[in-house]
Amino acid sequence: MANAAIIAELNRNTENRAKLIEEIVKLERKIFPKHESYAAFFDNELKRKNAGLLYLHADGELVGYVMYSWPSSLYASITKLAVKEQWRKQGHGEALLKAAIQKCKTRKVSRIMLHVDPSRAPAVSLYKKHGFQVDRLIEGYYSLERHAYVMYLELDSN
Ligand SMILES: CC(C)(COP(=O)(O)OP(=O)(O)OC[C@H]1O[C@@H](n2cnc3c(N)ncnc32)[C@H](O)[C@@H]1OP(=O)(O)O)[C@@H](O)C(=O)NCCC(=O)NCCS
Repeated sequence: MANAAIIAELNRNTENRAKLIEEIVKLERKIFPKHESYAAFFDNELKRKNAGLLYLHADGELVGYVMYSWPSSLYASITKLAVKEQWRKQGHGEALLKAAIQKCKTRKVSRIMLHVDPSRAPAVSLYKKHGFQVDRLIEGYYSLERHAYVMYLELDSN
């Protein structure tokens, strides 16, 4: 990574929490079309039990974030991953994904699931690089013309 990047967890005590959430929502709106965006119900997403958000900042700037949850003791989900366009291809997405996988592992689940639009080639490639496999395609998942791969990563039981 070219710049000193720091990954932190968003929690109730996070300094500048409100400003940070505002920035993340702005980024969410910019990167994701409405049907894929959490922007409208971000606060509820953050209040959910069994869910977390990690954000990465570099040179004092918010660079990206990853959201995850563990709906049951059986599996966890990566629910969102995004890196600002001008900061891409520098390893930040990978660093965020790895950190989220580590967080999910602490919940002692046996697999991590996610949904991703197959047309998001960089994301699909990143997930495959980290061992995720395509389970199935759900047609019309995001909208009429936008489908989703369900991908999963089996975790070592040790
Ligand atoms: C997906 C995303 C988070 C990747 O972030 P990034 O910081 O650019 O990724 P990295 O630099 O860490 O790249 C790691 C790996 O991702 C894949 N990747 C990243 N950019 C890619 C591209 N343009 N084309 C193909 N693969 C790509 C590669 O496997 C890469 O590994 P490599 O460098 O060994 O080839 C970023 O492109 C993004 O925010 N996209 C829009 C939002 C999105 O699609 N989110 C996922 C669905 S929720």
